[in-house]
Amino acid sequence: MRVDVVSLFPEFVAQIAGHGVVGRAQERGLLAVHGWNPRDHAEGSYRRVDDRPFGGGPGMVMLIDPLRDCLAAARAADRAPAKVIYLTPQGAPLTQAKVRELAKCERLILLCGRYEGIDERLIEAEADEELSIGDYVLSGGELAAAVVIDAVARLQEGALNDNESAIQDSFEEDGLLDCPHYTRPVEHSLGVVPSVLMSGNHAEIAKWRRQQSLGRTWLRRPDLLHEDQLSAADRKLLDAFRDGLAAEKTK
Ligand code: ADE
Repeated sequence: MRVDVVSLFPEFVAQIAGHGVVGRAQERGLLAVHGWNPRDHAEGSYRRVDDRPFGGGPGMVMLIDPLRDCLAAARAADRAPAKVIYLTPQGAPLTQAKVRELAKCERLILLCGRYEGIDERLIEAEADEELSIGDYVLSGGELAAAVVIDAVARLQEGALNDNESAIQDSFEEDGLLDCPHYTRPVEHSLGVVPSVLMSGNHAEIAKWRRQQSLGRTWLRRPDLLHEDQLSAADRKLLDAFRDGLAAEKTK
């Protein structure tokens, strides 16, 4: 997969994409991240990339032409057609389902805005999608682009090692939160590892993990839990989780 990032700070995204799973995916040839700077396509000695907004108001708006020429150069760098994504708080929320869809693309171009935004005409003409990583405002799209790159990189076949399975993670498969995890020592001043995890009984362990996932999702993200769509077995696990919690409270 190839990802081109159009940004006034392309080296920032490249830096982030050089570490951890993303860096390893690049080393393994599963992913290539390239940066493109609209300033390289700006004219005049000031290489101006922004101007004041029509209608007044604070801040600056990124100009059409440097961005358009930069995007054209990025598109022309590879024959594969690219999906252009503009990162903005006005975009559709990025979800794991969307990440799974994007991870299958041969090529993405991530368009990062700065200042108050980008001239709307450029977005209308060039962007295939607009995505937001959350309901808060960042000072630019670069961190959002890094989030997209990380999330799609780890889904590339061969990016994760065997012990880093993507399937068990939160939101994979069924959209539930992940269960809690423990490692040595069994006993610590901060607490004891749940005994079922040391039982060696794989069916019981799977059941406990499923129950924890259901319970945590119910407690922390009820918006993700569609109780009416749960299987009878899941409902039983969730009921038992709630009973356990209620019993603990009355202790
Ligand atoms: N640019 C600024 N804020 C953003 C956000 N929340 N998501 C995506 N891009 C952004």
